[in-house]
Amino acid sequence: MKHLINTQNLTTEEINQIYNRASEFEKSIRKANHINAHIVNMFFENSTRTKMSFEMAENKINANKYDFLADTSSIQKGEDLFDTINNLSAIGMNVVVMRHENNDLIENLSKKQYFQEISFINAGSGTLYHPTQALLDFYTMKKHFLTLSDKTIVIVGDIAHSRVAKSNIELLKKFGMKIRCLAPNNLIGEKIEGVEYFTSLKEAFEEVDIIMALRIQRERIQEKIDFDEYIKNYQITKDNLPYAAFLMHPGPVNRDIEISSEVLEMQNARTILNQAKNGVYVRMAILDMILNAQGL
Ligand code: CP
Repeated sequence: MKHLINTQNLTTEEINQIYNRASEFEKSIRKANHINAHIVNMFFENSTRTKMSFEMAENKINANKYDFLADTSSIQKGEDLFDTINNLSAIGMNVVVMRHENNDLIENLSKKQYFQEISFINAGSGTLYHPTQALLDFYTMKKHFLTLSDKTIVIVGDIAHSRVAKSNIELLKKFGMKIRCLAPNNLIGEKIEGVEYFTSLKEAFEEVDIIMALRIQRERIQEKIDFDEYIKNYQITKDNLPYAAFLMHPGPVNRDIEISSEVLEMQNARTILNQAKNGVYVRMAILDMILNAQGL
């Protein structure tokens, strides 16, 4: 694996390999010592979980990490991002972990020729890709259920603007899961083959195993959102949450919008923090595989 750009291009073998390696890191069966590796974290959009989780993973595999601060960098003097990364490559960076608002920029940058070999990991791009989130979600589900092919997941919320939904759908389809999306018509977005779409929560939650709630991405929506209407029809509450449902959310949660505070205090919601915890092991596995492929 040279780069990690999206989940479409991953094979089930690669996904299982990441799962197994992450599990070995979690159980402390595997250790990694990448003292000669240099990783630069370039976040052009806000982040708490992904950024901190990558930093924790980089520390745990004994790599050298660098925080690129766009606001105080020479990008402010007009430098092109390709030229910036080419210089980072010349300085000796081996891996770029990047988050960017543009859907295709990270993929396009990964296809260019640099001064020295440099790998790209997509830490979230626009509304399309968030592969490390989907991989940590897969890890969290598989660790709990062992087999996913007979399970049904409902992804509920702002599907239209969610890179988490799209990356999860592409990954989970490969493992034969039944995938439902639930949202009001204005938040469904472009329909994806193999996914069942619902506007009624009652119908979507019938015989469901996993519920993945999503944040409404106010920063990507131009038109006015009717939050009262959304809360009335789609908020996950103690009354509509199926008793045994495995409740997930990539974070950040907008408390009392997509999930009620009461539900967030329930045992079902512990999964959400386990997702954040598992993200460290999954990112350790991804970095370890990419650095190994570079011989580092
Ligand atoms: N899930 C996720 O990407 O969270 P952050 O935006 O805080 O990184």
